[in-house]
Amino acid sequence: MKAVIIYYSYLGNTKGIAEKIQKEIGADIARIETVVPYEGDYNRVVDQGQDEVNRGYCPEIKPLDVNLADYDTVILGTPVWWYTFAPAMHTFLKSQDWSGKTVYPFATNGGWIGHTFKDFSEACKGAEVKEDMNIKFDEATLRTSMKDIEKWIGKIC
Ligand SMILES: Cc1cc2nc3c(=O)[nH]c(=O)nc-3n(C[C@H](O)[C@H](O)[C@H](O)COP(=O)(O)O)c2cc1C
Repeated sequence: MKAVIIYYSYLGNTKGIAEKIQKEIGADIARIETVVPYEGDYNRVVDQGQDEVNRGYCPEIKPLDVNLADYDTVILGTPVWWYTFAPAMHTFLKSQDWSGKTVYPFATNGGWIGHTFKDFSEACKGAEVKEDMNIKFDEATLRTSMKDIEKWIGKIC
């Protein structure tokens, strides 16, 4: 099994979890970044995010330095933006062929996960989408127990 962690993170919560997973399982890791950065204060980004999610807008993202074809297991991490994955993750999911892959999604959020994992399953057509992990933060403070996160990571390999 060859695994890669691919994540998007605006403020750093998802990045921290992605790096924790990498430490535990030793997989390759890559961060999705938008070509045009989100700018302005938090509330402005929250509003922009709402507009983008409502329109199904997929922002242009920078090329990743990993090739999905080299991996059979993909761990996907995103913050929840308006009850689903962030638009940058949407762009990435749409750009790939998921057939034959095994996917483990995780999502950091403030407590309103919405339909994020259902949307992952629909976007990764042809993949076997395995157990997901809902990770709650209050701003930058982790609220889900690290033990539960480690238990989920233990199921990946
Ligand atoms: C545009 C935007 C929309 C958000 N929508 C939700 C939401 O629908 N449900 C929720 O629980 N948290 C929501 N949040 C909070 C983030 O999901 C949460 O803070 C997350 O851990 C941030 O991850 P990051 O630090 O990796 O960017 C939203 C944040 C932003 C910026």
